[in-house]
Amino acid sequence: MKNILAFGASTSTTSINQQLAKYAADCIKDVNINLLDLNMYEMLMYSSDRQAAYGIPEAAKHFKSLIKSADGIIISFAEHNASYTAAFKNLFDWTSVIEKSIWNGKPMFLLATSPGGRGGQTVLDTAVSSFGFMDGKVISNFALPSFQKNFDTQKGITDIELKKAFDKECDLFQKAI
Ligand SMILES: Cc1cc2nc3c(=O)[nH]c(=O)nc-3n(C[C@H](O)[C@H](O)[C@H](O)COP(=O)(O)O)c2cc1C
Repeated sequence: MKNILAFGASTSTTSINQQLAKYAADCIKDVNINLLDLNMYEMLMYSSDRQAAYGIPEAAKHFKSLIKSADGIIISFAEHNASYTAAFKNLFDWTSVIEKSIWNGKPMFLLATSPGGRGGQTVLDTAVSSFGFMDGKVISNFALPSFQKNFDTQKGITDIELKKAFDKECDLFQKAI
């Protein structure tokens, strides 16, 4: 069975992006899901001086090993000031100095959601437009606007048009893994 690495790029214990990442992972059939908690990957703020002095943290190496052993990756981005959360960016920076290929050619389904009407579209656009240059294979992407209005913990995405668009992206990802 294929292995899917999934996580919300947030350390909030009530993360709406963790909920959306899990929801997306659950839509993929016949796969093992490894749902990560980003709190397990908290580490020193990246700096080249710290890298020279202490080397690369074990947590970043572990994250890298999970990327390598995955058949597909699902990330839902929390948007902080139109960008990645500091927690994700730090993990991303440490991981990026391990080897040139950051995402190891893995198929990716990238998402974002927020309480606002753009649903984290800005941070999602950043990831979608740049991960291809970092050896990521971005297959699908989806931003869910106004999370509290459009998502129910039991039913998932409640808006019919948004659900249709989401399902289309899920199908594309399912076929790519
Ligand atoms: C420091 C900070 C900056 C934020 N900036 C944005 C933003 O630029 N765009 C946006 O849609 N929401 C923004 N928000 C609101 C987040 O989308 C909201 O907190 C959301 O729940 C974060 O996702 P999470 O629950 O998965 O952590 C911001 C929140 C914080 C705390």
